[in-house]
Amino acid sequence: METAERIQDRPDSKTISPKTISQGISEEIVAEALAGLLSPRKSLPPKLFYDEAGCALFGEITRLPEYYLTRTERLILETLAPALDGLVPRRAALVEYGASNEAKAELLFAACDIAAYVPIDIAADALASLSARLAGKHPALTVHPIVADFLAPIALPREIASMPRLGFFPGSTIGNLDPRAAVAFLTRARATLGEDATFLVGVDLEKSPNLLLAAYDDVAGVTAAFNRNILARLNREAGADFALAAFAHRAVWNPAEHRIEMHLESLADQIVHIAGARIPFRRGETIHTENSYKFTEPRLTALAMRAGWRVERIWTDRRKFFAIAALR
Ligand code: AVJ
Repeated sequence: METAERIQDRPDSKTISPKTISQGISEEIVAEALAGLLSPRKSLPPKLFYDEAGCALFGEITRLPEYYLTRTERLILETLAPALDGLVPRRAALVEYGASNEAKAELLFAACDIAAYVPIDIAADALASLSARLAGKHPALTVHPIVADFLAPIALPREIASMPRLGFFPGSTIGNLDPRAAVAFLTRARATLGEDATFLVGVDLEKSPNLLLAAYDDVAGVTAAFNRNILARLNREAGADFALAAFAHRAVWNPAEHRIEMHLESLADQIVHIAGARIPFRRGETIHTENSYKFTEPRLTALAMRAGWRVERIWTDRRKFFAIAALR
């Protein structure tokens, strides 16, 4: 609820012109940032990673040698494709949660009879270009993009009301959610997709901490740049004045919670301003920017059950690095 007046009142607001305020500052992002940064244990929601620069950096991450997740999932999708024939009814609607590009959906288009595609993502630009590309490549496919946070309630387009549904949540994005939020998400997805739906969910599996840590702290520093971009974005879109070099990327394995955590560690005592609010940091204090939960088959099965789904099948790669589950 910051007003332009308050921002201009700030004695050190030299870099913020009224023009920037009206064009660049998003009240929503300011509110989300302040909610996380004014709490005693500072955090930021991972969805803030995915502005244009962040989407590009994430694309780079998926091609890193250390980041096995994307390429392993792709391999599994290619091998499970023949099995989908028996699982997915003809003329189905594919509903993908967190669909910033069509690469994974393409594997499903090739494997089963998909008549409509509903990609859901918060990155509006990415969704627009995805839809444009698909119109060229698959003119017979009806595409209904939905710009939304997939955690919010989603109303499926009327046009697919009578079609059988295949839900798709790839990439271990479910790992961003703590178990309670994951159960809430899966419960809501069951209501959205309906009783007869199949839901394909990709999850990263627990493995040696060294391999996990390398995937989230790569030698080339791309993940560090991805993490820090959240601060650059707040400078651009929330009127913040983060000094990027004063925060270091940290990846931590939390064995009790079965998750990789990403943090940004303040390298000094410092004060940061966001749209007029003062945020003090102690040296060594961190902003918790992401959790990436890692699963075992039993934990995934238990999670699905709590949300009213059962695991019909589960596919994995030879090294058991990643898994795709078919929930019914
Ligand atoms: C897109 C959420 C699955 O947790 O591995 C990659 C995001 N963060 N490197 C993940 C991410 C750091 C990614 N997800």
